[in-house]
Amino acid sequence: MSGIPAPYNSLKNPLPRSRETINRGVAVYGQSCTSCHGATGEGNGDAGRSLSPPPGNLAWLSHMPMAQWDPFMYWTIAEGGGQFGSAMPAFKDALPKDDIWAVIAYIQTQLPQKTK
Ligand code: HEC
Repeated sequence: MSGIPAPYNSLKNPLPRSRETINRGVAVYGQSCTSCHGATGEGNGDAGRSLSPPPGNLAWLSHMPMAQWDPFMYWTIAEGGGQFGSAMPAFKDALPKDDIWAVIAYIQTQLPQKTK
């Protein structure tokens, strides 16, 4: 956990933990993450089936202390898994910052609840 580089290691979610934030996170998740991580976050999305390593189980992750740690979550999603040899895409150029924070809030509070 200590390997997270600046400026990521001091980040904090700037969005309020509100219904609005979570709803935005649900929308972002459905658009950008479901294909690999699956609708319930278990890592069983269609596009993820052929990947090695397979997409992370976010439902499981959401119960881990590190998922509650904003720097870890933001860094993972912004930079992707290229540096670790996984197919997790880097979203820092694909998504606005607030979309990334919204999806983090969603994962931290809601998974694995079904989104539909
Ligand atoms: C192209 C498929 C793909 C898409 C799309 C994708 N991911 Fe991933 N994700 C992966 C893979 C593969 C891993 C690596 C799992 C591993 O290293 O064990 C991963 C890992 C992660 C991890 C770290 C999990 C862990 O176990 O450490 C997080 C958090 C994550 N993804 C969140 C997201 C979010 C949020 C989105 C949408 C914005 C997303 N991912 C979109 C494939 C994807």
